[in-house]
Amino acid sequence: MSASDRVVLVLGGAGTVGSGIVKALLEKGFQVAVISREGGRLEKLKQFLSGSACDRLHTLVGNVGSEDGAEAAKGALLKEVGEVTDVVSCLGFSWWQGGPPLAQSLAELHRVLDTLLLSTFTAWKAFFPLVKDNPGGSYTFITGGAGERLLMPGTGFLTLGAAGALAFSLMVREEYPDVPCKLNELKINMGVTTPERLAPGYVNHLDVGEAVASLVEKRIVSHTVLSASSPADLKALALEGKI
Ligand SMILES: NC(=O)c1ccc[n+]([C@@H]2O[C@H](COP(=O)([O-])OP(=O)(O)OC[C@H]3O[C@@H](n4cnc5c(N)ncnc54)[C@H](OP(=O)(O)O)[C@@H]3O)[C@@H](O)[C@H]2O)c1
Repeated sequence: MSASDRVVLVLGGAGTVGSGIVKALLEKGFQVAVISREGGRLEKLKQFLSGSACDRLHTLVGNVGSEDGAEAAKGALLKEVGEVTDVVSCLGFSWWQGGPPLAQSLAELHRVLDTLLLSTFTAWKAFFPLVKDNPGGSYTFITGGAGERLLMPGTGFLTLGAAGALAFSLMVREEYPDVPCKLNELKINMGVTTPERLAPGYVNHLDVGEAVASLVEKRIVSHTVLSASSPADLKALALEGKI
């Protein structure tokens, strides 16, 4: 199956990490679908992509953060594209530093878990069945090192949400050891940002995009955590489809 016959749904594709992945996938010739809760974010994505092959980009407004919302988005997407062969899941947010846990409310913890963990579950529940039995397909989780340690004081809830996302990905790998699709996680142990905002400790979202697009294209590994701790790791993944 050539790249142009594969339809990659990038969950969170209008975000910082997702937009780099969408660009790289389009440049490799894939059809790419993005669902966002806000039409304005999809317009911004199209402006960012100008020059890339936007005729292969399918966008729709929807909310995959609830079971009903994810099912509705799935129905609308399948009507437009026919089938989905691959999914990249990078839902969540870039940063949270609301302060120490004693100063937090339960409502805030719900919000953080909704964004980082529960939307990952509701989206996965709707879309994993579309790709899991396809030996030519894939499901890739994007996670971060924030789930393994406190990045700095006041970021505790980020650690809780990110740890949930890490555990979710592990659970799926272990509960579904034999699925024919390639089931992987790219764990990025660095900040990810746009080229204009690059600073020490951060990597370019375009480099992350190239790494993920290569993982999806080459399909060399499955049930693997690819842990990227440097730009060189991302480069290796972009070149070889594994680290
Ligand atoms: N940024 C980093 O430094 C970094 C580093 C390592 C790993 N990561 C991983 O990448 C993920 C995304 O980071 P990012 O920087 O790209 O964040 P971002 O720019 O805030 O984008 C996050 C995306 O998630 C979507 N989303 C969040 N909650 C949702 C919900 N309830 N329903 C539907 N969509 C929802 C948003 O969709 P809408 O378009 O609908 O708003 C948005 O497109 C993180 O959660 C983390 O797992 C990030």
